[in-house]
Amino acid sequence: MGLRNRYRQLPPNLFRPQRRDVLIGVADAAITGMEAMAAAVRRPRMPAETDRTIALTVAERRVVAHDQDVVALTLVGQGLPGWHPGSHIDVHLPSGLVRQYSLCGDPDTRDTYRIAVRRIPHGGGGSIEVHDLKVGAAVKTHGPRNAFPLTVPGYGSPARQFRFIAGGIGITPILPMLGLAQRRGIDWSMVYAGRSRDSLPFVDEVSAFGDRVAIRTDDVSGPPTADKLLGDCADGTAVYACGPAPMLTAIRAALVGRDDVELHFERFAAPPVVDGEEFSVSVASTAENVRVSADETLLSALNRAGVHAPYSCQQGFCGTCRTRVLAGHVDHRDTLLTDPERDDGMMLICISRAVGDSHLTLDL
Ligand code: FES
Repeated sequence: MGLRNRYRQLPPNLFRPQRRDVLIGVADAAITGMEAMAAAVRRPRMPAETDRTIALTVAERRVVAHDQDVVALTLVGQGLPGWHPGSHIDVHLPSGLVRQYSLCGDPDTRDTYRIAVRRIPHGGGGSIEVHDLKVGAAVKTHGPRNAFPLTVPGYGSPARQFRFIAGGIGITPILPMLGLAQRRGIDWSMVYAGRSRDSLPFVDEVSAFGDRVAIRTDDVSGPPTADKLLGDCADGTAVYACGPAPMLTAIRAALVGRDDVELHFERFAAPPVVDGEEFSVSVASTAENVRVSADETLLSALNRAGVHAPYSCQQGFCGTCRTRVLAGHVDHRDTLLTDPERDDGMMLICISRAVGDSHLTLDL
């Protein structure tokens, strides 16, 4: 069964066209790495400009992991656009921060969106702000986008069964997929992994699917190997995985040589820097110099140095970190900026770098 590197579009009769379908989990550098692997990948599509701002109100706030680290927010709004499993929304928080969260509710519920957020005490502050939102608080979005679409067997995928793999908060995009697979009578199985049962969000909702789901926690079984996560992974399986980077890396490595298996994954954090060189930047407003090491992003280096720069996705697709370069040569690693924008001196500092070990001056 030749599933390798198949470029799959959403089946038009099943999923509506998306305004800003982009790849969330695989930056260009990661694609380069993946093309050496025997797993199908999704390719990025250029985002279009957003149009409409949608006001949302927090209608419900509920702790969904027993260790209290994850809250689910039900957001209510007027005329909410529909969505499909794998979609996420940009949430514009009252402070001005923008963060992206997978929609983890029921796509058939048209007047609310549900997101779930793990509190990250030493992150960029977005998750803490979300956790502190009270019922009645107002946020905004521009509507759902789908970077992790589920392609259904018979509707654009030659696969015959699904294997879902979720690690911790990685359950959020997977959860609506389970409902769709179940409703369509598709053969599927799942492993849900985490530190302990108390740390797993929505464990009750996932458990309701019965013995199709294996819940595997480190405190009982030890950290899972890729083989345990993949299960028997028969010929014709489409694997949908979301979780921590080491888990995804192990799964990708285990599927090398498996031309008969599709792999779709979504990551929540920045992809690792590939083929980076150390370089330096100057901050024009303060003349501060910052060194960027070979294995860190320019955005990380600025954050480390206490230089404020806006960001959201950290993966080169949302455009929040767009910054003007006043001097120097940029190694553009995104697929978002147009040539005129690049010619005009713009760069995405979350993913792009200086050419070689050269120096950049940023309009910050
Ligand atoms: S933070 Fe989203 S493109 Fe850089």
